[in-house]
Amino acid sequence: MDKIISRSTEETAKLAGDILNKIDLEKPVVFLLKGELGGGKTVFVKAIAKAMGVKERVTSPTFILYNSYKTRFKIEDLRFKNGTLLHWDLYRIDDPKELETIGFWEIINRASIVCIEWPERMGKKYLEKIKKEMNVIEISFEYGKKIEERVMSVKING
Ligand SMILES: Nc1ncnc2c1ncn2[C@@H]1O[C@H](COP(=O)(O)OP(=O)(O)O)[C@@H](O)[C@H]1O
Ligand SMILES: [Mg+2]
Repeated sequence: MDKIISRSTEETAKLAGDILNKIDLEKPVVFLLKGELGGGKTVFVKAIAKAMGVKERVTSPTFILYNSYKTRFKIEDLRFKNGTLLHWDLYRIDDPKELETIGFWEIINRASIVCIEWPERMGKKYLEKIKKEMNVIEISFEYGKKIEERVMSVKING
């Protein structure tokens, strides 16, 4: 696990681009973004969107669960051809059954890249399924010593 210190929102955004450049986009990619409110999870997703060529404004989907964005990526494999980026915020999920009702698994399966804030709220079953079948990047965001400092622990696939 890599620990990275970010000293500004710009540094957090740069880190997102760096990670994106390193990962294998042939497989569906899921970012599990953990950590307290204000840690920088949404800042990170905005940078991912920008790096993927999303033109729309990315806003926090706390009340609507997720947003979907078209990216400039066209990944050849039929499953991922649409190049969709999904941004989930599961903060308001109290019971994983709520996700079952809306067809969470089917929705994320159609996307190319999925960013999930508050992944612990999806419950063990989905978490294990995602870790088994997708390319997972887990990042924990913590506050650092200074006001604009954030510590990010990055874990790739496992
Ligand atoms: N190094 C940093 N990285 C990311 N965000 C930072 C940093 N320093 C300060 N911030 C601020 O912290 C807040 C992070 O908010 P946000 O990304 O919405 O957090 P989360 O989605 O984790 O709740 C923003 O207001 C941002 O400007
Ligand atoms: Mg957020």
